Order: sequence, then structure tokens, then C-alpha cells
Amino acid sequence: MAALFQRLTHGVYAVGVAHGEQRNAFTAAWVMQVSFNPLMLALSINPNHSSYGMLRQGKAFSINVLKKDQLELAAHYAEPASADKLALVEWVPGRSGVPLINDALAWFECEVAGECPAGDHVVVLGRVVDGKLRDAAAEPMTYRDTGSMDGAAALFPAAFD
Ligand SMILES: Cc1cc2nc3c(=O)[nH]c(=O)nc-3n(C[C@H](O)[C@H](O)[C@H](O)COP(=O)(O)O)c2cc1C
Repeated sequence: MAALFQRLTHGVYAVGVAHGEQRNAFTAAWVMQVSFNPLMLALSINPNHSSYGMLRQGKAFSINVLKKDQLELAAHYAEPASADKLALVEWVPGRSGVPLINDALAWFECEVAGECPAGDHVVVLGRVVDGKLRDAAAEPMTYRDTGSMDGAAALFPAAFD
């Protein structure tokens, strides 16, 4: 089953969240554009992640596009929240305070426009209010590049009902 679902293609992103003085980021592959007018992105987040509370309270998120050679960052942001998961990199706060990572290939800043339960995840819609392509020559990381980093293979059922 994992081999089947691994044929869906995804990028890899560090999703930034903020509420007041608190900030965090987590690695996500389930991110996509969902509208041209207005420009909107969607992401799917496990509501048990500590980032989810901050995202709901801050009503905003950033999508930092990781470069192919930033596997260490992908692994770092996939760790559970710590005192300061953002200490490893240089970043600046966006309009809503969400972290925009200086060394990302690109970033988008979004205001939460709604959310929808999706099984064990929640799909969050965001209106894009800002964005920057920081390294046009860099190759974006793909989900396939991360191998078994997220341990997702163990989460699939053996067969369809
Ligand atoms: C390659 C990769 C992709 C991931 N994609 C997602 C995702 O799309 N949505 C999600 O909720 N978690 C995803 N995760 C898991 C989170 O990054 C991980 O659970 C993280 O510890 C959550 O951080 P937090 O507790 O600080 O919020 C992914 C992990 C990896 C390694």
C-alpha cells in the first residue's frame, strides 16, 4: 500500500507558525495550490502536532520551500516541538509573525481562510498574502528524496476493505 501512495508526487516544506512570541515550524509534504483568484494554498496537518494550536491561534502560516540538499532541515523540523526549533536557521518574521526562512528556495505567507476535517488530519486553507522566490536556480526537494524519514510506511493498511 505504501508503494502505491508513494507514487503521488509531493514537495517538501517547512511550515512556519506563530502566536504572540511563540514560533514553530514543522516539515510537511501535503501542501498544494488550490486557487488562482484569490491565490490560495492548502496544507494537511495532524491536529496532534504542537504547531496546530499555534496555527489556529495565529490564523496564519508560512510555507518555506526546501532545497534538494536541505535534508538535514527536513529531518530537524520533523522532530517534535522543542524550546526553539528555529534556532538552527536564520529567519525573519512575516507580516503575521510567521517565520520566513532566509535559506529556503522560496517562501509564501498565508492567512488562514478556513479548515476542513480530513480523517486523522485537518486541511487548512490559506490566502497567500506575500511570497518570494529566493533562489531561482535551486532544485526543490521532493517527498521521494526524504526516503523513510517520516516512517509513513507503517501507517498504511495492508489492503483496501
Ligand atoms: C518528509 C515529511 C513529510 C511530512 N509531512 C507532513 C504533513 O504533510 N503534515 C503533517 O501534519 N505532518 C507531516 N510530517 C510530520 C511532522 O513534520 C512531524 O510530526 C513534526 O514533529 C510535527 O512538529 P510539531 O510537533 O513541532 O508541530 C512530515 C514529516 C516528514 C519527515
